[in-house]
Amino acid sequence: MEKLNFKKKICVFISGKGSNLQSLYKYSLLKKSNYKIHLVVSDKHEAKGLIFSKNKKIKSIVINGNKEAFEKKIFHIIKKEKIDILCLAGFMKILSSNFITKLKIPIINIHPSLLPKYKGLNTHQRAIDNNEKFSGCTVHYVTEKLDSGKIISQKKVKILKKDNALSLSKKILRSEHKLFPETLDKICKN
Ligand code: GRF
Repeated sequence: MEKLNFKKKICVFISGKGSNLQSLYKYSLLKKSNYKIHLVVSDKHEAKGLIFSKNKKIKSIVINGNKEAFEKKIFHIIKKEKIDILCLAGFMKILSSNFITKLKIPIINIHPSLLPKYKGLNTHQRAIDNNEKFSGCTVHYVTEKLDSGKIISQKKVKILKKDNALSLSKKILRSEHKLFPETLDKICKN
């Protein structure tokens, strides 16, 4: 039987440029991949990642409005589309515990720091200001508490003296693009 039948159906939530979405998609095209990107959802119609998903003919939806309206609409769509795993890739809303519990599928997020350090925004500048020798990225399960769910995988990145927030963010983003698809693929294998 063709492996395609066993590929897990992934939904990706985005709010911005979607470079992680692109890396997830690129990996999904590999023969060895255990998942396929079935649906992309944005809470912002101007999210650049939507240009990519539409170009690739991935089913793409924009849902405007507050969190409650967003969650209500997308809940039914995720169930109807029989999504196996939800990935948050630069998605800027914090999902409610009610939504997370009721959805009953794994939800994972990529965060640009070595959690539990530097939850939230502005992670690179804070790591530099604290004279950290390393930062990096983390893939973790999503709970209603911001960036606090169980850690699945991490990748370390060295902070050099000459680094600023921008150069560090670029280096870490490159690591994100490897870590996120590889981690998702491992989860999908099990
Ligand atoms: C990434 O740094 C990710 O870790 C964070 O938001 C950023 C999203 O970038 N959660 P992109 O939209 O995937 O390019």
